[in-house]
Amino acid sequence: MEKILVTGGVGQIGSELVMALRKVYGAENVICGVNRTKPEGELKESGPYEVVDCTNAQQVADVVKKYKVDTIYHLAAILSAVAEAKPNLAWNVNINALYNVLEVAREQKCAVFTPSSIGAFGPSTPLDNTPQDTIQRPSTMYGVTKVAGELLCDYYFKRFGVDTRGVRYPGIISNVTLPGGGTTDYAVEIYYEAIKNKKYTCNLPAGTFLDMMYMPDAIKAAIDLMEADGSKLIHRNAFNVTAMSFDPEIIAAEIRKIIPEFKMDYNVDKVKAEIANSWPNNMDDSAARQEWGWEPTYDLASMTEDMLKVLKEKLK
Ligand code: NAD
Ligand code: SER
Repeated sequence: MEKILVTGGVGQIGSELVMALRKVYGAENVICGVNRTKPEGELKESGPYEVVDCTNAQQVADVVKKYKVDTIYHLAAILSAVAEAKPNLAWNVNINALYNVLEVAREQKCAVFTPSSIGAFGPSTPLDNTPQDTIQRPSTMYGVTKVAGELLCDYYFKRFGVDTRGVRYPGIISNVTLPGGGTTDYAVEIYYEAIKNKKYTCNLPAGTFLDMMYMPDAIKAAIDLMEADGSKLIHRNAFNVTAMSFDPEIIAAEIRKIIPEFKMDYNVDKVKAEIANSWPNNMDDSAARQEWGWEPTYDLASMTEDMLKVLKEKLK
């Protein structure tokens, strides 16, 4: 990897991945691709950024050629809750934009990292210890686009030899950029509210178990997979990766170990609850562990300690 483009570069994952990649590969070698929102602060000052609306194939091609990009981290997407509200937009961004990126990658010989999601599973999937290879009949537009995206990336590798790779991320918890309209957003908001108000109204019901991961592990997964020996990869584009699984009661109890007065009640969002219900309770990520050495660093306790410490400073 010498020249890298990150699409969706100001999003929840992109804003931290760009900075991490700049530390590893040199700031001038990592281009932050943005749609409408411009980067700010260190993200803007530390390296190049370009407007890359991925639904516009020419814009993607122009930036790839201008910088002689050889690797694209394609993070531009519409997340699950927004996708249910705007299915047309979700199809256009999650499918047509991915197609554009893959076509440019084929022409310009770029490697491509594309995240899939726990959303690529559905109600008929075994929801406990969800296997790497299993039934995928999602009931959401987000899931439909994620399964199609996994298949499209596999196709570009098999048919055209494009070096496509990807993971199925669980809910990502972070403290730099707020999440962009997903079903797992509660697990970020709860920490902000714990610091700000010592109480939180949760929009998923108690007992909703979902896979989750702290951002440093999500970044590590992306970079480690792209650095892995390609000849050892069997599942190139849709590795299950997880770090922990919890429901709202368990994360609240963990926060109470540090903020004993923290209180939580519920106002359930029916759409999000139904989506969450159709997703795994916990995934089997042994294929990622075996094929490229995936191992998360943070568990719920260490993540909670770090989140609350960072947010206490940030929200002062
Ligand atoms: P996000 O919503 O925070 O960021 C996505 C970015 O894409 C936004 O900045 C948005 O402006 C941009 N975008 C939208 N349309 C675009 C277009 N046409 N051209 C260029 N950019 C466009 O999302 P995220 O959480 O950073 O997710 C990144 C990827 O990881 C997505 O593929 C998502 O499905 C996947 N993922 C995320 C999570 C999570 O919990 N954050 C979990 C599983 C999978
Ligand atoms: N966090 C994401 C969402 O809820 C999972 O893909 O949409």
